Amino acid sequence: MKLFPDDLLHFLENSPTAVHTAAEAAHRLEGAGFRELHEKDAWELKPGDAFFVRRGGGSLAAGIVGQKAPAEVGLRLVGAHTDVPALRVKPRGVYSKEGYRMLGVEVYGEPILATWFDRDLTLAGVLVASKNFGPLQYIPVSLKRPVARIANCAIHLNRKVNEEYKVNKQKHLPAIYALDRKQEMDDQSLRCLLAEAAGINEAAVQDYMVDLVDTQPPTLGGLEDDFLFARGIDNLVSCHAAIWALIETKDDETPTTRIAVLFDNEEVGSNTFRGAGSTLMDAVIERLCLGYDGGREGMLRTVARSVLVSVDGAHAVHPNYAGQHDANFKPQLGGGPTIKVNANERYATTAATRTYLTMVAEGADIPLQQYVHRSDLPCGSTIGPISATRLGVATVDVGVPMLSMHSIRETTTVADCQYLAEMLGAHFTAGIDPVF
Ligand code: CO
Repeated sequence: MKLFPDDLLHFLENSPTAVHTAAEAAHRLEGAGFRELHEKDAWELKPGDAFFVRRGGGSLAAGIVGQKAPAEVGLRLVGAHTDVPALRVKPRGVYSKEGYRMLGVEVYGEPILATWFDRDLTLAGVLVASKNFGPLQYIPVSLKRPVARIANCAIHLNRKVNEEYKVNKQKHLPAIYALDRKQEMDDQSLRCLLAEAAGINEAAVQDYMVDLVDTQPPTLGGLEDDFLFARGIDNLVSCHAAIWALIETKDDETPTTRIAVLFDNEEVGSNTFRGAGSTLMDAVIERLCLGYDGGREGMLRTVARSVLVSVDGAHAVHPNYAGQHDANFKPQLGGGPTIKVNANERYATTAATRTYLTMVAEGADIPLQQYVHRSDLPCGSTIGPISATRLGVATVDVGVPMLSMHSIRETTTVADCQYLAEMLGAHFTAGIDPVF
């Protein structure tokens, strides 16, 4: 088996978009004996079954059915998100300007835009393909090589660049993609390139949706290799931890059903057919419960005994910006998973769910930290409150401490990622009966 850091780096490298993340998770689950189900089919789940299901390409739910009925022992749930702030190429986004072939982009979520300049960018996303009016297929595609650049303006033409770095989303983000050669048609070159990378005939490509993605692979760094420098630490390390924990505990004899759900679209508010605001988690739980003959009441009893650990990044204290933190809540890199609390319920943690997770972590010898946002700054949010509301399940929000959230390149430590994965494993198997 691969060591944890290698396993994590491999996962991150194979996850340039949400669809790739779900595909990588599916690949790992399949390799560990989980069976793929489809929402359009009838399901028959029985104790001991390990399954997963995808929705919309970029969301995935996976579970192991426990020996005891969920209505008797509840579920141990984990939630995370597969999407990362990005720049998405507009439909028919190729155009000419000043002798260049350009890619027009829209901003997806809230990236730190300044970090996107002068990076070696590639294209990754999904093709929709169909041969001779046959069934439509989603095909993940990633070019891997640098094909685009959002170039900075030279300092001699922008003398104030270091005092006031301003980015206009419409004017400054279109990426240089090629020199303009007259024979190329709009969009055609991009379609060809994507079809070729996916190994399919260009004529079969009906449509595509691709993002600009950094080509630099994730790496360990720092004097002692403590750090992880990577794209999408928020929140791919949580997806990795959830899948790792599920696979590691697959053969554990715990009687409780374990489910991990990785949602797309958190960065744009989760209100999509595959996001945390959708029916994905409820649908999986309902189908599972119906298999136990408890009917609708069985599902309601199940949810009342369940606990969801919602996993997403937390802000570690930054030595150059330490004043941005409440002085009493300065999570340290390497200090362990960080429970997030907010009086206005931007995080779903309650005193009871915090107690539950503290007991789980203590039992597994995993250090925990706590984060509360400064009272004079608006707090971010995550899938925790959305899933908690949608399902009516007690929830705790937690995540690895990290720097530079939403930069094209973020920083955390591998130790924190491993603590998180082990803590999720302990959550799945600890057998602590949460009564909320
Ligand atoms: Co996040």
